[in-house]
Amino acid sequence: MKRHKALRGMKDIMPPDVEEWQRVEGVARSILHSFRYREVRTPILEETGLFVSTIGEDTDIVKKEMFSFKDRGARDITLRPEGTAPVIRAYLEANLHMHDAFQKLYYMGSMFRAERPQAGRSRQFYQIGVEAIASREPSLDAEVIALLAKIVDSIGIKGYQIRLNNLGCGKDKKHLSQILRELFSEKKALLCEDCKLRLTENPLRMLDCKKESCKSAIRKPFKSVEFLCRGCVEHFDEVKKYLAALGIAYIIDPYIVRGLDYYNRTVFEVTHNRLGSQNAIGAGGRYDNLVSDLGGPELGACGFALGFERMLMALGKRFEESEHPPGLDLYVATLGRNANIKAFQILNELRDEGMCCDMDYEGKSLKAKMRTADRLGAKFVAIIGDDELKRNEAILRDMATKEQINANLDSIPKELKARLSLAV
Ligand code: HAM
Repeated sequence: MKRHKALRGMKDIMPPDVEEWQRVEGVARSILHSFRYREVRTPILEETGLFVSTIGEDTDIVKKEMFSFKDRGARDITLRPEGTAPVIRAYLEANLHMHDAFQKLYYMGSMFRAERPQAGRSRQFYQIGVEAIASREPSLDAEVIALLAKIVDSIGIKGYQIRLNNLGCGKDKKHLSQILRELFSEKKALLCEDCKLRLTENPLRMLDCKKESCKSAIRKPFKSVEFLCRGCVEHFDEVKKYLAALGIAYIIDPYIVRGLDYYNRTVFEVTHNRLGSQNAIGAGGRYDNLVSDLGGPELGACGFALGFERMLMALGKRFEESEHPPGLDLYVATLGRNANIKAFQILNELRDEGMCCDMDYEGKSLKAKMRTADRLGAKFVAIIGDDELKRNEAILRDMATKEQINANLDSIPKELKARLSLAV
């Protein structure tokens, strides 16, 4: 029989790694709730058009990276490459703009992009994202950035940088595109093949080209370019004031343009040196036209998404194999079938009381069961042999102190609870 493997660029998250994922999710969730964000869960598949019209036809994501296919009804569908467009679609579909327009929503889940896999870049990756909808206030941009910093800090990531830029409004972006076209139409030879294409299709993307030759050709003439209108300059100044009020450090990086077209005004990335070329742990910004582009009213919005795998890479530490969260309170080691049935009942009762407990399901000997209890780090072991069963008793052993008592089988839950709360 053929042994199957996970698809290229897609990984299984196995114990004990998954416990670290759960920890990060838990930390993030409690911070998100403290900022009054509420969770949304949208489908993993959406109509392809949703992403094409919002992310932009000329972006790498839409041109090269989407997992798109026809379903059985010949409809064009796509595995979501990001969460912003689906959340705005869901917001409008639920008519939130009519009842309770200002919303702070968050999501956690898998995104899919058919990129060439490398460290920090996979084809299925997991994001924690937020979308704050129906406000154009600069205080919201700052709160979103503060939230991102708080999550990253609380997870324990150190040495990251927040990079900020102001892309301006739609008019400013067009203005800048025009300036770049004029600056480089005569100097195409200086540009890489990708940037030659970008010059006609999406000139802003030339600014974040990673090739050294393009950097030196583009950055110098770009330095003196002024393209922002007054409103956009003032908005950004306000954002910076709010960030200063919280003492949030950032770097202004005029070359951040983002790989999705829906952004305007404030954009940002959080980078970490440990990550190599894929150095963004998370990124986001303001997108004031997306709600109306999807058929809703003119409502400002902003948000971010943090990449889970990259956060864990930046964290750089792994759970020890010896840790078995959640801690095993009791392991029941039995001799014989009748004792096993009794153990089965006891476990059921203890689990109803919220305790973590287990027994053997592999037909091991009593001695091997004791070894398993030890290996799993059980706090207590209940041994039920023939003699004990006759007396309706178990030997209850504290694995830390090695102290043993005979406990009536019916009183095990009570005994254990008392001892566990003593041990805490
Ligand atoms: P994005 O910059 O495309 O933005 O992705 C955000 C984060 O997802 C990245 O910084 C990175 O950590 C992670 N990420 C992206 N692609 C991959 C990949 N192939 N492998 C591993 N991690 C990856 C967005 O997705 C926007 N929707 C963010 C946003 C929300 N803007 C406003 N609201």
